Amino acid sequence: MGSTIIGCGKCLPALEVENDELKALVDTNDEWISTRTGIKSRRVAVDETNSDLAEVAARQALGWIDGGHAERRLDPSEIDLIICATITPDVVSPSEAGLLRRRLGLSNAIAFDLNAACSGFVYGLAMAESMMAAAAPSVAGAAGRNPVRRALVVGAERLTRLTDWSDRNTCVLFGDGAGAAVLEWSDERPGILSSFIANEDDEANALTCAAAYEAPQPFDARGISLDAAAAGDPGLARIDEELAIGEAVADGKPRQVLRMNGPKVFKFASEAMTAAIRAALDRANLSLDDVACIVPHQANERIIKYAAKKLGCPLDLFQLSIAHTGNSSAASVPMALADAYESGRIQRGDKVVLVAFGGGFTSGAVVYEA
Ligand code: ACO
Repeated sequence: MGSTIIGCGKCLPALEVENDELKALVDTNDEWISTRTGIKSRRVAVDETNSDLAEVAARQALGWIDGGHAERRLDPSEIDLIICATITPDVVSPSEAGLLRRRLGLSNAIAFDLNAACSGFVYGLAMAESMMAAAAPSVAGAAGRNPVRRALVVGAERLTRLTDWSDRNTCVLFGDGAGAAVLEWSDERPGILSSFIANEDDEANALTCAAAYEAPQPFDARGISLDAAAAGDPGLARIDEELAIGEAVADGKPRQVLRMNGPKVFKFASEAMTAAIRAALDRANLSLDDVACIVPHQANERIIKYAAKKLGCPLDLFQLSIAHTGNSSAASVPMALADAYESGRIQRGDKVVLVAFGGGFTSGAVVYEA
């Protein structure tokens, strides 16, 4: 008995940008990018919105269009919950999940977004599974909760809209895309066996992105002040100081871009990924020998190689999809999952680990039986 993944899908935008093409923007080259990250090219959404990408991935996962992997075609009325993990929603309201609900006609579903950066999809699966388990008919108090028998969990990002294309330390890393999975509560199949999600403080502000609200604020501490609207938002200025980006913003650099101290994030990521895999496997009473495939967040191939070495397992246990996607944050794990199904490396009954880390700092892993 448990929540089983019965469908998944992915969507990449049309434009592919090769490493060497980025030379037109910053001082870089294919050799540096490929050897340091494993990335050869990334996709950039130009015409596509984040919800366009999410919609295609979701349609595949629901078995409505070709591509992806779907055990069966679902009826729109069967979906009770939509969680969209994203840090780049097209709009603040409605949520990305709300837009998907409308576009897909999933009129029975409750829908909301989740921000846990690159770990968002793994957090989303853990949350959907908890809601489904709490509402299972055999559970005390289930009748008092929203019944959730099937959930659509999406990771969708248009990260290139938050990328500072003049910063070679970050701009070579990111790409756009979306992935989706359908979870179904089953009385027969075990599905998700365990989950582990964790946070620690990013005390050095190694990975930040401030929001850029545009509405002028015609108030100061005494009340309405038309001068205050021109002077800017003192609250945001304090947050900029807290994130240590005040100087850059005062120098006229854009506020809403991803800023990263690569080596610090690398250190956190390498430790967090192995810790999350070990913790989730422990909770499921399994060892790495039981696992057919690990689907990791695709941030940097070197982080994945480090994890394989530290865990003492072969690199080919890990699904590697980064070469032609770059780091697509919350979309990266579900897109890599769709790739793993497409290549046939996940078969019914296999034990699979999904693992991610990201800004916040967040990290997490989910173990399931396919
Ligand atoms: N092209 C050429 N040279 C470059 C580039 C580039 N694109 N970027 C940096 N360099 C240079 C640096 O300036 C530095 O030069 P210097 O020694 O003269 O100062 C040199 O290369 C080495 O730079 P490092 O930052 O030490 O390189 P490192 O080997 O650590 O790799 C990288 C950098 C790829 C960013 C790595 O640290 C990394 O992958 N970190 C983790 C990133 C990550 O996983 N982020 C995930 C979260 S993202 C999210 O949540 C949205």
